Amino acid sequence: MQIAIDGPAGSGKSTIAKILAKNLGFKHIDTGAYYRWVTYRVLSENVNLQNAAALIRTAEQTDFAQIDETKIRSKEVTENVSTVSALPEVRRCVVAQQRLAARGSDIVMEGRDIGSVVFPDAELKIFLTASVEERARRRYQELLDKGEKADLAETQKDIVERDRKDSMRHASPLRKVDDAVEVDTTGLTIEQVVEKITEIYKERK
Ligand code: DC
Repeated sequence: MQIAIDGPAGSGKSTIAKILAKNLGFKHIDTGAYYRWVTYRVLSENVNLQNAAALIRTAEQTDFAQIDETKIRSKEVTENVSTVSALPEVRRCVVAQQRLAARGSDIVMEGRDIGSVVFPDAELKIFLTASVEERARRRYQELLDKGEKADLAETQKDIVERDRKDSMRHASPLRKVDDAVEVDTTGLTIEQVVEKITEIYKERK
């Protein structure tokens, strides 16, 4: 079974997908980590971000089994990942690797284009949303928890900018597909969201 969870930055996708996968005994795949890993490699190898061919080459030469969680959440990676993930050829390469990683397993896969592109036939599609203010607060808290310096207004500006880039890009923009169930997480606890999705899952099973 494939469960696709899509939504914007700060909607709670990663936290929810991880718990859901654990509860159901499914494999969890965070597809944002794939784009972040390519971006980390681009930055650490000083690949020119304006050079599309070089970005594509880097994506093709990336080993996604080696994703290092400690390296992909930096501010620098976050600021540049939209540029890298906007290239259709980069996406084609990364999506192929994501499908490969999912092969033969029950999965919870989270991202922006799972229900629309990666697994359009997924048995269950969830589109997670939350108000911009709430998403900014969550991201801000996350940064503080990591011991990083953060400013709430700036965090909100970053989120709005990333939403804009992710929704406006030509290649696989973030959007809710018709057969996805929208779950607004504003004001809900993590447990409440997990419970809601679990109920939807049980109805579908
Ligand atoms: O979910 P995240 O913040 O880790 O995602 C990082 C970036 O990767 C995000 O700005 C958009 C991009 N992304 C994407 O284009 N498609 C996906 N399926 C997942 C993430």
